[in-house]
Amino acid sequence: MSASFSNSHFLPVLQQDFARLQTIHMRDLFAQDPLRVTRYSLSAATLFLDYSKNRIDEAALDHLIELAAASGLGAARDAMFTGQPINNTEDRAVLHTALRYRGPDSIWADGADVMPGIREQRQRIVDCARAVRSGEWRGATGQVISDVVNIGIGGSDLGPAMVTQALAPYGCNGPKLHFVSNVDPVQISDILAKLDPACTLFIVASKTFTTQETLTNAVMAKRWLLAGLAMAEDDSRWQRHMLAVTARPNAAKALGYKEEHIFCFWDWVGGRYSLWSAVGLPIAMAIGPEGFDELLAGAEEMDAHFRSAPLKDNMPVILAVLGVWYRQFFNSQSHTVLPYSQRLARLPAYLQQLDMESNGKSLKKDGTAVSWASGPVIWGEPGTNGQHAFYQLIHQGVDLIPCDFLVARECESPEHVDQHQILVANAVAQAEALMCGKSEQQVRDELAESSLSPAQEDLLVAHKSMPGNRPSNFLILPRLCPKVLGSLIALYEHKVFCQGVIWGLNSFDQWGVELGKQLASQILSEMRDDTATAVPHDPSTNALLVRLRGGG
Ligand code: F6P
Repeated sequence: MSASFSNSHFLPVLQQDFARLQTIHMRDLFAQDPLRVTRYSLSAATLFLDYSKNRIDEAALDHLIELAAASGLGAARDAMFTGQPINNTEDRAVLHTALRYRGPDSIWADGADVMPGIREQRQRIVDCARAVRSGEWRGATGQVISDVVNIGIGGSDLGPAMVTQALAPYGCNGPKLHFVSNVDPVQISDILAKLDPACTLFIVASKTFTTQETLTNAVMAKRWLLAGLAMAEDDSRWQRHMLAVTARPNAAKALGYKEEHIFCFWDWVGGRYSLWSAVGLPIAMAIGPEGFDELLAGAEEMDAHFRSAPLKDNMPVILAVLGVWYRQFFNSQSHTVLPYSQRLARLPAYLQQLDMESNGKSLKKDGTAVSWASGPVIWGEPGTNGQHAFYQLIHQGVDLIPCDFLVARECESPEHVDQHQILVANAVAQAEALMCGKSEQQVRDELAESSLSPAQEDLLVAHKSMPGNRPSNFLILPRLCPKVLGSLIALYEHKVFCQGVIWGLNSFDQWGVELGKQLASQILSEMRDDTATAVPHDPSTNALLVRLRGGG
C-alpha cells in the first residue's frame, strides 16, 4: 500500500480520534484506566519509556500504528537494513546500521558486501586510537599527543562533539578533545591559542572533503602547525599532525594527506548518521576503542529491537507515531528535547540536524507535495536551565509543544547522589505539572489567607492556574555510559526514519542546503574582487553587499 493512499485512508479515522481526545483531559484518561501507566510504557535495550502522559487512548494508538504499518514501515525498515537504495534522489543505500553490526554475516549494498571494509576501518580506528592514547603516536618533534582537534561541521562534528561531552568521565588517560566547526576564525584561534603544536593532532573530518568551512579551518590549522614547529612549506612532517576522515580519500590525498592517515567511510553513510564510522575516531581517542565498541553495541541492541519488535511494542515506532499525531492533528510545530543531564547538553543540537535535515521537507519521495505535515522544529536545553528560561511557554503558551524528558537514574558519582536527586525530582515534577496543571480552585485555596480584593484575586487565579493536559514522554536511562548512549542515539535515528516513512519522505538527502552554499562562494568572489562577474542579485542583497564593503 503506498504511503499517500494509506495516509488519506487514515485521515478521517484519526480525525475522529482527535475530535474525541481534543476535549479530554489526560487526568481523566488516567482516572478511567488504572492500568494506563503499564499499558503505555515499555523497555528496549536498557531504556525505559513512559509515554502514558500523551493525549492518546487505545483506539487512537491502534490507528496510528495501523497508519505506520499501512505506510509500508515494515518493508521500508527491511529495505534499509538490507542495503536497498532507499535514498532515491541520490540512488544510495542507507547503511549506518551496518557500521554498528558486530556479527559475522555479510551485508550487501550495490552488489558488494560492505562488512569487510567496515571491519577493516574499525580495526584502523582501534589501532590509531590506541596509538594516540598510549603515547606511541608521536608528533614531528617526538612529543606525545596531548590534544586532538576535530575539524568538521554538521554530521562531521555534532555527533562526536555531543558524544565526547556526554561520556567525558570515560575519557581519562586519553588526549583532550576540541571541536572546531564554524568558519568564524575566532573559534579555531581561541582553541589553538591554548595548544602546543608539537603535542596537537588534527582530525579533518568531511564526507565530501569539499566543505568550505572545514577546508578553510584545515588550512589555518596547517599554517599554525608549520609556523609553530618552524617548518618550511615543503616540510612534510606536518602530516604526523593531520589525519583525514572522508568518503573521498582521493580528495584528501590531493591535499597532501598521507594515505595511512586517511580513514574512510562510504557514500551510503549519511553525514548526520556517521558517528558510527571513522567520523567517530575522536570518540575512540577520547574514551578508548573499548568504549567506542560499547557505543556501537548499544546502538546494535536498539537496531535489533527496532527490527524485530512488533510495531505496537516498538520504541522508535511509538515515539514516531506520537510525533506524527501532534504535528498533524494538534498542529504542534515544534518538539522539545529536555535532557536532565548537563553532559547531554549538545543532544538537542545533534537531534536538530538528525531530525530537521532528514525530515524538513515539503516533497515526498516521488516528487509530489507532502499531503500531511512533515518534520517539526526540534529544540531544547538541559534541565534545569530550561525551566528558568523557556518552560513558561511550554506550560502556558498558546501552542502545544510535546516534550521528551531524559533522565539517567544512576548518579555518576556516589558523593553527588543528593544533588542528582534534586535534578531528577525536577524532571519528574515538570512532567507532572505539564500533565496535571493547576486548577482554579487550587489557586484560590492557596490565596485564601491573602488580603487581596476579589478583583485582584480573580485576576491572579486566572494567571496562576495552569491548564495542564500538555504531553510528554519520559525516558529513563539506567546510567549515562557508552552502551546506553549508543541505544539512545539509535532510538532517535529510527524514530526519525519511521516518521519519514509515514510522511512519505526521503529522509536521507538534504538538497535544501545546496543553494546557500553556491551563493556563498559566488558572493565571496564578488566581495574579494569587484571585477568578478556579478550575478544579478536582488536589490536587498546588492544593498547589503555595498554596505558590508563599507560603501553604504
Ligand atoms: O550542508 C549540510 C551538510 O552536507 C551535512 O549534511 C553534512 O553533515 C555537513 O554538511 C558536512 O558535510 P561534510 O562531511 O561533507 O563536510
